Amino acid sequence: MAAVPEETPIVSPHRPLRLGVNIDHVATIRNARGGGHPDPLRAARLAAAAGADGITAHLREDRRHIGDADIARLREHISLPLNFEMAATREMLSIALRHRPHAVCVVPERREERTTEGGLDAASQFDQIAPIVRELGDAGIRVSLFIGADKEQFDAAKALGAPVVEIHTGTYCEAFDSGPGAFEFERMRIAEAAAYGASLGLEIHAGHGLTYDTVKPIAMIPEIVELNIGHFLIGEAIFVGLETSIRQIRQLMDEARAPVSVQPE
Ligand code: PXP
Repeated sequence: MAAVPEETPIVSPHRPLRLGVNIDHVATIRNARGGGHPDPLRAARLAAAAGADGITAHLREDRRHIGDADIARLREHISLPLNFEMAATREMLSIALRHRPHAVCVVPERREERTTEGGLDAASQFDQIAPIVRELGDAGIRVSLFIGADKEQFDAAKALGAPVVEIHTGTYCEAFDSGPGAFEFERMRIAEAAAYGASLGLEIHAGHGLTYDTVKPIAMIPEIVELNIGHFLIGEAIFVGLETSIRQIRQLMDEARAPVSVQPE
């Protein structure tokens, strides 16, 4: 192999990292008073203008934030890919098949939880999830499974035929306040899981709880190609506006992915 000339930097390949903006909590605020303000569709338009690559919305079984009409309006008026998050139920499957979003992310759901607290147990719910993955895939909808950084779940996702997994970053984000050791431990778990998933041929996404403080170390994991971020962006928008919060997180993601020059020894 030819020697690398002394002054030539070796530039790592710049891999794209997509940002999906989750607009659920615009609907949470709207629903606190009823009526139509603030409108999740308007938030989706702003997100598109601010550089989002996709819009994510979770139609929960109890409709606590996004409602059926929101999904219909998003499909009708937004040209960005819609990532429709749903529980593995027949009701949600038929809604997904009716609206045909670009992607479906299958998530666990418990009515009493405040948010999606952990990943799917794809291994033990194999029989419930398998027909959902198959029917969505047959309809040409890209399916991802929201799972923890756990080898058994990656193996189950692969066996289920899901082309994509989204790694739950909640525990990692919570570890930010527990000091650098715990935080790095959780980041490593995600990095190793991402590498393992990619070795199985799965496309790797990540999300949940990400903030300005926690996004960069995750964005630096080269196998991850999409991040889905919602609550922090909507909360931050109260102070700086939605376009600014999205542009800021986008910039942090881009900085994490910027080509790195490595000088030869
Ligand atoms: N990805 C998935 C699968 C989710 O369920 C959620 C939360 O709805 C997110 C990402 C976004 O999480 P957060 O709102 O905490 O950024």
